[in-house]
Amino acid sequence: MKQPRMSVPVITIDGPSGSGKGTVCRLLARTLGWSLLDSGALYRLVGLAARNHGVDMDNHPALEVLAGHLDVQFEPGDDEGGELRIVLEGDDVTQAVRSEEVGALASQVAAVGAVRAALLARQRAFRIQPGLVADGRDMGTEVFPDAELKVFLTASASERAARRYRQLIAKGDTVSLPRLVSDIEARDRRDTERAVSPLRPSPEAVLLDTTGLGIKEVFEHLLRLARERGLA
Ligand code: C5P
Repeated sequence: MKQPRMSVPVITIDGPSGSGKGTVCRLLARTLGWSLLDSGALYRLVGLAARNHGVDMDNHPALEVLAGHLDVQFEPGDDEGGELRIVLEGDDVTQAVRSEEVGALASQVAAVGAVRAALLARQRAFRIQPGLVADGRDMGTEVFPDAELKVFLTASASERAARRYRQLIAKGDTVSLPRLVSDIEARDRRDTERAVSPLRPSPEAVLLDTTGLGIKEVFEHLLRLARERGLA
């Protein structure tokens, strides 16, 4: 007889910026009817709150306090893609939080161990029935080490920069592709070389290189993996 599952099932999807995680995680969560944790948004919010409050990136105790007391709401948005509206201290920051500048601040605050520790309980609170899709860098290694399915997505730096370029241009931003490539490489370096929770695949993770693959192909591959494990 099949044993009932005791804990809330989790699918972790980790990988560097631009590997396609955000979109496939949203699709997967919607298809399964599960919750979604966009952990990158939490680090971005700490970076944005630090900038708004004039907190220096070297002031680790103040960054820890900000991370532990983030006043944020994730509300259902009205666009088709299912993107949530993010409200920080009463202000709608849905767009601001996605900027390249805030991404760079996020990767600086993310290198501070006390900030990571302060966000741990908040991230784990997203694990509610019937299941959770968790998007990030250390979801499978640190935050949900007991996840039922762990995936690590990669793609070449130039392909990731090109994807980001298309997203930003579609939003009407002015960006330079060579600048995006060097920013992505710098962010990868910071994320993989940091002492605390560096970006690396869990030994149990399924590795998937998405270079040359479309979102639909990646999504279908993940859905197949979820089905193989009895999660869908
Ligand atoms: O995924 P996103 O680009 O929104 O993440 C922004 C930054 O937050 C990353 O470059 C990384 O430094 C940090 N991050 C992290 N751990 C996570 C999610 C994001 O360190 N689980």
